[in-house]
Amino acid sequence: MHAAEQVEAKRNAGYRAAEEVRDGMVVGLGTGSTVFFAMERLGERIIREGLCVAGVPTSYQAAIRARRYGIPLTSLDEHPELDIAIDGADQVDPALRLIKGRGAALLREKCVCDAARSVFIVVDPSKMVDTLNAPVPVEVLPFAVEAVSRRLAALGADPVLREGVKKDGPVVTDNGNFIIDCDFKAIAEPGRLEAEIASIPGALECGLFCGYMEKITVIVGEEKGCRIVS
Ligand code: 5RP
Repeated sequence: MHAAEQVEAKRNAGYRAAEEVRDGMVVGLGTGSTVFFAMERLGERIIREGLCVAGVPTSYQAAIRARRYGIPLTSLDEHPELDIAIDGADQVDPALRLIKGRGAALLREKCVCDAARSVFIVVDPSKMVDTLNAPVPVEVLPFAVEAVSRRLAALGADPVLREGVKKDGPVVTDNGNFIIDCDFKAIAEPGRLEAEIASIPGALECGLFCGYMEKITVIVGEEKGCRIVS
């Protein structure tokens, strides 16, 4: 799929997900280029249909986008239960387990995913894989970065501290933490790995999302239209 076709696929997925939002809903708003298309269409629906909704953004980036598209914002404190969430993913396997976090928003994204009654994951076809094998991002307390790296290496990863584009320092998340990207190659037991990473003190969250298959619907955008996987 060429770059222009991939953008069309992302747009189709995002626009389709925005159609799932109903009047009065509180919506978790993920981070990333695909979900931003959903926000764009949601903004259009707010104007065109007078839709009354509120969004809980998963990052400052998502909040800025939502404001630009005219989506009123609220917080998880105000709405600890969300009607739906719309988010992207870096990989999706046939059991609807995900790797997320290229955009470094995985910690808040998991909070929002957990709080939502149903979750729409918007992707282009390149994200659909038989076996999860992308690097797993782990949000880490800066105080414990070396200790956590050792524990991740002991689990079989090749841990790399994520740096900014200029390579002059670590990426700092919206929560003031660092990200360690962990290449485990093909992940045979993603749920078990997620639990093992969760047991490391200082590893605040990882990008494996394995416990939400029952409420996830994946919208795979294609060059023309979408495919729904649930
Ligand atoms: C951010 C994420 C994104 O949803 C994921 O990286 C997909 O992004 P995109 O839609 O730009 O490909 O998990 O933390």
